[in-house]
Amino acid sequence: MATLTFSNISMRFPDGTEALSDVSFGVSRGEFVTIVGPSGCGKSTLLKIAAGLLDATAGSVDVDRNGIGYVFQDATLMPWRTVRRNVELLAELHGVDKDERQRLASEAIDLVGLSGFENHYPKSLSGGMKMRASLARTLTMKPPVFLFDEPFGAVDEITRERLNEETLRLFEAEKFAGLFITHSISEAVFLSTKVYVMSARPGRLVASFDVPFGYPRSPEIRFDPRFAELSGEISHALRGAHS
Ligand SMILES: Nc1ncnc2c1ncn2[C@@H]1O[C@H](COP(=O)(O)OP(=O)(O)OP(=O)(O)O)[C@@H](O)[C@H]1O
Ligand SMILES: [Mg+2]
Repeated sequence: MATLTFSNISMRFPDGTEALSDVSFGVSRGEFVTIVGPSGCGKSTLLKIAAGLLDATAGSVDVDRNGIGYVFQDATLMPWRTVRRNVELLAELHGVDKDERQRLASEAIDLVGLSGFENHYPKSLSGGMKMRASLARTLTMKPPVFLFDEPFGAVDEITRERLNEETLRLFEAEKFAGLFITHSISEAVFLSTKVYVMSARPGRLVASFDVPFGYPRSPEIRFDPRFAELSGEISHALRGAHS
């Protein structure tokens, strides 16, 4: 059994909007699965169902809800807390004692490259730095299942590439079960073991691609001909999914 398993998930909102139709797949530890699909096809809805924030109309999710880390599209930091205190927040809410949560926070801040900014407030951070802080906050919980909802959609291309490289390093270190949502095909290929294409609403999985690169992964794979070839195939499937 995978760490996170969706079985025949369908979702219809009370207003009649059909968001998902019969979605089934699993993500095991050491797998990094990315979903790409047209805007409004039900990707965020699927993550919310995984996290227990929404109940599916049909089908079931099998996952240990205590072990889920969720990185939202916006960094959702508390403006009155410093970077360190924001990163400590989840551990604090889980009752981890002060010494241990400070240790976890320092380790996570170091991993995401924010050392030296511990005492800064969110308002003095760039968008990319805020996302790093948000990632670090989730990392302190060492979640076996990591859900990412378009975390890097709002940063420039170079910053996004750097954040992708950091995400890769986190994955290589922690080997969580990763489920990632993005509109960027290159980001999907760069990070993942597998990429699914979702159809327009109601979202269904219409294509699946195995990524032929192992881990640890070098940034250089972006220049590998297989990278371009796979990106082209996914782009083609995605164009089909829009119609
Ligand atoms: N609470 C809700 N009530 C009714 N409809 C909803 C609700 N939440 C989402 N929807 C609808 O369900 C569909 C899927 O929404 P969702 O946010 O999952 O899309 P998405 O694939 O994440 O899109 P994007 O790529 O733009 O983030 C959309 O048509 C949206 O309007
Ligand atoms: Mg969304």
